[in-house]
Amino acid sequence: KRPIILDCDPGTDDAICLFMLLGDERFDIKGITPVCGNKPLSFCEKNALQLCELTGREDIPVLKGASQSLFCGERTAGNVHGAGGLGSVTLPEPHKQVEDQYAWDFIYQQAVACKGELEIVAIGPLTNVANALLKYPNLKDYVKRISIMGGAKGLGNWTAAAEFNIWADPHAAKIVFASGIPMAMMGLDICFKAYVTADDLARIRAAGGPVAEVAAALIGERVGYAEKNGRPGGILCDAVTAAYVMDESVVQTVDVHVDVETRGILTEGKTVITYKHTEDRHFPPNTKMGEDVDRPRFIDLIVNSLTNLNR
Ligand code: BDR
Ligand code: CA
Repeated sequence: KRPIILDCDPGTDDAICLFMLLGDERFDIKGITPVCGNKPLSFCEKNALQLCELTGREDIPVLKGASQSLFCGERTAGNVHGAGGLGSVTLPEPHKQVEDQYAWDFIYQQAVACKGELEIVAIGPLTNVANALLKYPNLKDYVKRISIMGGAKGLGNWTAAAEFNIWADPHAAKIVFASGIPMAMMGLDICFKAYVTADDLARIRAAGGPVAEVAAALIGERVGYAEKNGRPGGILCDAVTAAYVMDESVVQTVDVHVDVETRGILTEGKTVITYKHTEDRHFPPNTKMGEDVDRPRFIDLIVNSLTNLNR
């Protein structure tokens, strides 16, 4: 099985990403490392524990993550994901607690134990991953790939220039992109192409069982929002990263160099993307960036995983 750590800030779309990975039996999810992002850390931890219990996966350890960004304090997304972080969905109080181990120590330990096969899927601010890289400089030799949801080639969603995950900890993102570990980036531009329509939602609900019911409630809120705003469908950013990791052929990528603006007065957290690398201009590619998505197959991946979770 492919070993994975899911670094996340659940988060409604984080929950869908988690369901997709859990419903694909080719993965061995070694642990979940919540990070301060959509909500303060304690919310994201609790939501991660509740989602594991909902899916019957209390066996997956949830680790202690970062409660604030490296240099910019605690940056959260306010009420974008509802009061608790899972929209209008309420889940039973978790039985389990967060492990008594820090996310960065766990990431390193697992990476070494997996002998270079570990993949990190990071769908929140990159603070935990950056902490791991700072504390363990040779971590880069052990991680196979980091696939993130974050950044944008065009406009931002949190500020005019920046996407939320990168804005929330721009310094961490800069460290991760510069780490030398192969990166895959699903930015806003491709996430907007992976919309979910009311018809897709009906298929998702029809997967049946308690997990699909929660998924349909979470996705339904986004589809409703899109309908009100005249958009073709709801956006589930983090789910696109799950799709890429599950089946690379669903996403078309381009090799680019990505760096992060950390000092711009108006552009803090902007991903700066260079397409062309020439001998005299030194921007060698460090990232496979999602450019296009096969939307029907993206929906199929969501439905298939939810169907598997209902077995
Ligand atoms: C990203 O920010 C968060 O609100 C979502 O969970 C996603 O990871 C989108 O900009
Ligand atoms: Ca997220």
